[in-house]
Amino acid sequence: MMSPLEYQHANKDRFLDELLDLLRIPSVSADEKFNNDVRRAAEFIKIKLVEAGVDHAEICETAGHPIVYAEKIIDRLLPTILVYGHYDVQPADPYELWDAPPFDPVIKNERIYARGACDDKGQMYMHIKAFESMYKTGQMPCNVKFMIEGEEEVGSDNLALFVKSEHQKLAADVILISDTSIINNDTPSITVGLRGLSYLEVEVTGPNRDLHSGVYGGAVANPINVLSKLIADLHDAEGKITIPGFYDDVRSYSTAQRNEMAKAPFDLLSYKVDLGIDDIKGEAGFTTIERVGIRPCLDVNGIWGGYTGPGSKTVLPSKAYAKISARLVSNQDFEKMTKMITRYFIENAPKSVKVKVTPHHGGSPAVVDTDSIGYHAASKAFEKSWKKSPIPTMEGGSIPIVALFQQELKLDPILMGFGLDADAIHSPNESYGLFNYFKGIETISYFYDYFTELSAKQ
Ligand code: BES
Ligand code: MN
Ligand code: MN
Repeated sequence: MMSPLEYQHANKDRFLDELLDLLRIPSVSADEKFNNDVRRAAEFIKIKLVEAGVDHAEICETAGHPIVYAEKIIDRLLPTILVYGHYDVQPADPYELWDAPPFDPVIKNERIYARGACDDKGQMYMHIKAFESMYKTGQMPCNVKFMIEGEEEVGSDNLALFVKSEHQKLAADVILISDTSIINNDTPSITVGLRGLSYLEVEVTGPNRDLHSGVYGGAVANPINVLSKLIADLHDAEGKITIPGFYDDVRSYSTAQRNEMAKAPFDLLSYKVDLGIDDIKGEAGFTTIERVGIRPCLDVNGIWGGYTGPGSKTVLPSKAYAKISARLVSNQDFEKMTKMITRYFIENAPKSVKVKVTPHHGGSPAVVDTDSIGYHAASKAFEKSWKKSPIPTMEGGSIPIVALFQQELKLDPILMGFGLDADAIHSPNESYGLFNYFKGIETISYFYDYFTELSAKQ
């Protein structure tokens, strides 16, 4: 009988071809024009799970996109790993900035280029192949359940309902997720913190119609000017957010903890070169790693209004809009923070305009315990496959459902991701390294072994 690693080598080409097939399905959850494709992606995954050897796989309908659930129960007395991932992707716009079509994957310089190559199709599919290589070689040491959703990129609202109502079905000993990054391919890391998210849309209305900017300009409030000022006033000269109470639930870290965090390799010059910027900007008194990992932030994601067509049109617009998001840390509750930001816009707007704020999705921050069986198993799995001990890191991105998993299922989530900043997730020309794909499959299969072994010692 082959070892799982030998099986992975022997089936390398097929493992890659299957991922490419999945990447050809444009499963964009945010745009209903792709609804059929989203469903096709769910069906594809269900079939692949069955082929990999699960006992049972189903498509669970929701009010939105479906969830794929599957399980392989070897023995009820053995530990159970619940794998979470998402098969939906971000919109690929703007298409013209892609070197090759986003849903027609190409392999170049040892990387797979396609929307979702890393986030999260590539990373999620590694789990199906890791399971297959364990099962088909007769070396599956524990039980596994898969919960692969189609709405992560739009906030996971329906998955939250599913998790709340399916405690029994989802009963497990640990949750394993690959939807985050490592520091670099020489420095593996395990994510121990994710920021939360509060997202809202602001609409500012001035006069009841667009006006001639000469006839009325200077005499009537311009909603774009008002909105810009409200946004500019969100930060002071030190880069601190000015909303009263914004930092109340943010914990501070000791010097020792901050020194520990500073040990992670970080090169400011290459960071700037990579982004094409001459300087960085952020909250005074914190390093870049801290600004992203342990501090909240508030950003405009989009702003529009007035005339943006060719040439010029002299207009004093009736309306201005912005999409605003806050990334949250520590104990910042996303509903409370959304209300706080909403109040800021309502209370600080002058009487000359009306303001309407619409909250979108959100989620709480998550912190992972490093002293758990799951964390130790993940650490040993990295040591075995990467020959290096992984560093715990706090990441700036969000997977809103993770905090809910902790709350509802009372399980340790293990964030064993294999992405790199260079993968350009959510951007044009997203990619995923072949090395990371295959190394990830190997590392995940070791996790199964170590988790089972360490659980038995308990
Ligand atoms: N996989 C990402 C989150 C991520 C990326 C975490 C890199 C750590 C490192 C996830 O798919 C994502 O993009 N989440 C969204 C939130 C969602 C509600 C739209 C995000 O962070 O913007
Ligand atoms: Mn993701
Ligand atoms: Mn994403």
